[in-house]
Amino acid sequence: MKTLQQIMVQAQRSQPVLAGEIWLVGAGPGDIELLTLKALRAIQQADVVVFDRLVSADIMDLVPQQALCIDVGKTRGCHRLSQEKINQLLVELAQAGQRVVRLKGGDPFIFGRGGEEMNYAQQAGIACHVVPGITAATGCAAAVGLPLTHRACAQSVRFVTGHSRDGEPQLDWPTFVDGQQTLVFYMGLSHGSRLCQRLIEHGLSAQTPVAIIERGTQPEQRLLTATLATLPELLARYQPQSPSLLVVGEVVKFCHHPALTVAALPMPLMAPAAA
Ligand SMILES: C[S@@+](CC[C@H](N)C(=O)[O-])C[C@H]1O[C@@H](n2cnc3c(N)ncnc32)[C@H](O)[C@@H]1O
Repeated sequence: MKTLQQIMVQAQRSQPVLAGEIWLVGAGPGDIELLTLKALRAIQQADVVVFDRLVSADIMDLVPQQALCIDVGKTRGCHRLSQEKINQLLVELAQAGQRVVRLKGGDPFIFGRGGEEMNYAQQAGIACHVVPGITAATGCAAAVGLPLTHRACAQSVRFVTGHSRDGEPQLDWPTFVDGQQTLVFYMGLSHGSRLCQRLIEHGLSAQTPVAIIERGTQPEQRLLTATLATLPELLARYQPQSPSLLVVGEVVKFCHHPALTVAALPMPLMAPAAA
């Protein structure tokens, strides 16, 4: 495996330097079988892989031996490299003629800062390709048998950030309390109780079902269910860890996977609509 320094030195020596390119690749929510064929091909052709903490070890095992792997993983409150530094790193590697794969959990364009990295590359005149991935919402929902939309009770689904730079996100709460939608909160674990409280304050029934999917699609996956009212108790009892998704909506009642609960959820009022 080459070191970063070796690559840079080699690139400076060899004239003329051909510009490389950047591939923003979605690695999906963890299960290696959810990787797309296009993502696999990009990974196998990479000179350098710049990866996040959400990319599973199984997927990292697919990186060719000779490729350089750079961990820029961020955990809450601990950024190994700032986003600006990551943008610069990707561009510098590509300018050194490398085929750079920026490997991210889920999909690069869903809470993945893929847009920022793409814009930075374009401004530097570097070709940038995007390979979509299965985002946590769809991957985790499938893994626990939870339909995100359902003709009986959810005509739309919203992917929402549960976290902002200053902590709790400032959301347009009145638009979130239409019971005919499913809300999927990414990065919502640390503010989970507060998010539920806000939804109740703005008029959503306290009995609305909630699911937490912890490490969805992975061997350690756990499904926890509660209502908006009982979520704080659920969090205190089972202490789910990141990465976890919070799903709010009537669709949670249709999920018949075994779940950890604080109290049994009522069964769906309506039978599933005929196909
Ligand atoms: C910075 S966002 C990245 C989302 C990613 N780009 C995607 O499309 O899934 C990280 C959040 O995604 C969610 N997440 C990602 N992978 C997950 C998994 N395997 N199980 C549960 N939640 C996951 C968690 O809410 C986590 O805090």
